[in-house]
Amino acid sequence: MPRHLLDIRDLSTQELDALMDRADDIIQNPKRYAECMHGKKLATLFYEPSTRTRLSFEAAMLELGGSVLGFSSADSSSASKGESVADTVRTVGCYADIIAMRHPKEGAPTAAAQVSPVPIINAGDGGHNHPTQTLADLLTIRREKGRLNQLVIGCCGDLQFGRTVHSLINAMMRYKSIRFVLISPEELRVPEYVRESMHKNGVTFVEVERLEDVIGTLDILYMTRVQRERFFNEADYVRLKDSYILDTDKMRLARRDLCVLHPLPRVNEISRAVDDDPRACYFRQVANGKYMREALLMKLLEVEA
Ligand code: NCD
Repeated sequence: MPRHLLDIRDLSTQELDALMDRADDIIQNPKRYAECMHGKKLATLFYEPSTRTRLSFEAAMLELGGSVLGFSSADSSSASKGESVADTVRTVGCYADIIAMRHPKEGAPTAAAQVSPVPIINAGDGGHNHPTQTLADLLTIRREKGRLNQLVIGCCGDLQFGRTVHSLINAMMRYKSIRFVLISPEELRVPEYVRESMHKNGVTFVEVERLEDVIGTLDILYMTRVQRERFFNEADYVRLKDSYILDTDKMRLARRDLCVLHPLPRVNEISRAVDDDPRACYFRQVANGKYMREALLMKLLEVEA
């Protein structure tokens, strides 16, 4: 049976730590890894738009000496003729050694994994999970702060539909002395199953509406975009889209060692002026995502340097 990554909880804390160690080593010694995927193929099956996730998977595979194939929209695949995800995956499993899949339906990669002859990586399923973004987030936190415990983590924006936040909470919950500050409008609070999972694990969290009131207490501020494509009506989106804008005035209220993260793409929620602040870590986070995907591909394909 192939090993898949469908949910960040599929990886143990030791495995997460080992992936970060591997990514650090790839950053230090890229040449050592340049040929390790020779002859291996990654297929990216993206039924939803993406820039970073798809291209960083492809860049990761290419940097390890492997090759890539795939599609970047449902319209250009046989999904537009009515083919099921299961049949597509059975087919692509004949061409590729591993598959990264993004799909608008929650659980689609899990369904794919049930029939796939090769490992499936969930590259984002609806408003549910996004485990490989979390890998990028973890490495960034570890590199920027030097630790993954004793942190106050603020998550701000669309916490209901923001799949990256759900996976991040499920990962960070396992480290010691983590406290979450969940900042969102009432309508965009985390889903009940995420809240329950925090309760069950005895994690401390508060839910608040105003960023200004809490920004000074945070070690990490994880900003998110309001997820327009998941709203049932445009009027709600328009009303909520600019609920939070992180600007230089708000940054003045924050700690000098704050680390600002964002999975990107950004719309309005971080003003461009913040990009020059050394506490803005989101473009370094992009780079880290590629190295973590390299480490993950090696792990799931059981390839050594
Ligand atoms: C995120 C996603 O697709 O969930 N983007 C990404 O993969 N880096 C965040 C978002 O789209 O807002």
